[in-house]
Amino acid sequence: MRIESFEILPQPDARDHEINARLAICHEIRRIVFVDEQGVSSDLEWDEHDSPAIHFLGVDTEAAYEPKPLGTARLRLFEGYAKAERVAVRKEARGTGLGRAIMLALEEVARSRGAEQIRLSAQASALGFYEQLGYLGYGERFVEAGIDHLAMSKLLNDAK
Ligand SMILES: CC(C)(COP(=O)(O)OP(=O)(O)OC[C@H]1O[C@@H](n2cnc3c(N)ncnc32)[C@H](O)[C@@H]1OP(=O)(O)O)[C@@H](O)C(=O)NCCC(=O)NCCS
Repeated sequence: MRIESFEILPQPDARDHEINARLAICHEIRRIVFVDEQGVSSDLEWDEHDSPAIHFLGVDTEAAYEPKPLGTARLRLFEGYAKAERVAVRKEARGTGLGRAIMLALEEVARSRGAEQIRLSAQASALGFYEQLGYLGYGERFVEAGIDHLAMSKLLNDAK
């Protein structure tokens, strides 16, 4: 398994064609997981925050014919912290450590860009996944896209 990342900058980039092709792969995984599987409306799933953002793709390099993208996440950078969003692993790859590998890669990039903390909105069913990675929940639960969520955060200088 290989974790790839690519950045979409606000201004046009000479590599736009290649980058858009990779973003389309992230969108396809998100569509399968959030829209088809979880019933999130595609209107809510597609937003304007894919640019600027750093995107991650977990790719199965052992697949029979060609590398198969199986998981994705998005990282957005703010002053002093970063947000992890759209974390999704295709059903057939769950429980293999891919989600964890994507999150660790995302945290490493966030740290290297000066973020001291990661924040995210965790689906209630994924709380244990983030807790395993050292995230702590805070505040009240809330409903977003019809799904119960809790805000969570992790300080990046925490050893984990
Ligand atoms: C949540 C999700 C990203 C986890 O990805 P994954 O590849 O299955 O997770 P991993 O295999 O890397 O699991 C890492 C650890 O977390 C645990 N874990 C994974 N999903 C969990 C869950 N939903 N609840 C509790 N623990 C979980 C695993 O058991 C594993 O523990 P271990 O190291 O002790 O074996 C994946 O299930 C998914 O895409 N779900 C649907 C979309 C979703 O809910 N995304 C999160 C939106 S906030």
